[in-house]
Amino acid sequence: MKTIFCNADAAHIEQAASLLQQGEIVALPTETVYGIAADARNGAAVAKIFKAKGRPQDNPLIVHISDMDMLDGLVAEVPERAQLLAAAFWPGPLTIVMPRGDKVADECCAGLDTVGIRMPSHPVARAVLKASGCPFAAPSANLSGSPSPTTAKDVLADMDGRLPMILDGGDCAVGVESTVITVVGENPMLLRPGHITLEQLEAALGEEVKISGAILEKLKEGEVARSPGMKYKHYAPKADITLLKGSFDQFRSYVEAHRSENPACLCFTGEEEKLDFPCVCYGKEGDGNDQAYHLFRCLRALDEQGDGIVYARCPEMDGASMAVYNRLIRAAAFRVIEL
Ligand code: TXA
Ligand code: MG
Repeated sequence: MKTIFCNADAAHIEQAASLLQQGEIVALPTETVYGIAADARNGAAVAKIFKAKGRPQDNPLIVHISDMDMLDGLVAEVPERAQLLAAAFWPGPLTIVMPRGDKVADECCAGLDTVGIRMPSHPVARAVLKASGCPFAAPSANLSGSPSPTTAKDVLADMDGRLPMILDGGDCAVGVESTVITVVGENPMLLRPGHITLEQLEAALGEEVKISGAILEKLKEGEVARSPGMKYKHYAPKADITLLKGSFDQFRSYVEAHRSENPACLCFTGEEEKLDFPCVCYGKEGDGNDQAYHLFRCLRALDEQGDGIVYARCPEMDGASMAVYNRLIRAAAFRVIEL
């Protein structure tokens, strides 16, 4: 298949919209990461996403909408908590898991009776939603197992020849995938951390939000992931990454003691000058949003360097850094050393 790689101008947005209406898939930018979109009501179209990504069938997809009217038939009800969250954070990088409606293709839900819905804020995603009238399912536009793409070039590197069109809408502002929360069940629960933080969710809801077990550590043997995506290694770079938890001085001493391994460092901005090793910097220390913006780009850059040993500075585990920690421990296959 030939892949059209084009600017997201008005004519190409129309073309993308008609591809969606015809049951085709299209890669496009959102404020979080690039996605591969297909009409969420068309099972055959959604099946093409799984094929293009090589994605496991038991991992459900997020359905994107441009306005509240589009929710009709996608969800069985909009629970009160979902209304509060939508009012506070939509359009924006928040996915709300709700009881599923009958218009959603089974292929989106992986056998669950719930569906994740998000209203993106990116103007290109919104324009395609409006022009097509199709609520679209869209996972991140990477091959399953590689880092999520934050530029159209990243999408091309993974998906050339696997889908008909990639809309280039520039760099994604957030850089990590949306926050996922479920409002199905007794208590609201965070299923995936993102730009919208736990603290912001709790403030909007006026109650505690539980953190799903798989977010900050490895699932235990036999434990069931509430968000199926959390059970995969995900974001797997070629390099062997280990997170080192501690101060910069402890980090430097540890890496120097392991010089014989020829390691590279995934460090905070500015630290490369104090480290006598190849370095990739993933953002400012203590600034989760800056780290999120750079993280996946850095993992791709590390892949280009090959498959050596990498020691990474450990981000904080709360606030905006929780999303970064969650992605990094997966990239590191849960290897974390306390210094
Ligand atoms: O930012 C984003 O959300 C991006 C852009 C393209 O919008 N999309 C994205 O999709 O990250 P994906 O498919 O890569 O991640 C979907 C996540 C997975 O972890 C999945 O398990 C979870 O959302 N999920 C989706 N539907 C769910 C449901 N009904 N119940 C629990 N988890 C669900
Ligand atoms: Mg993904």
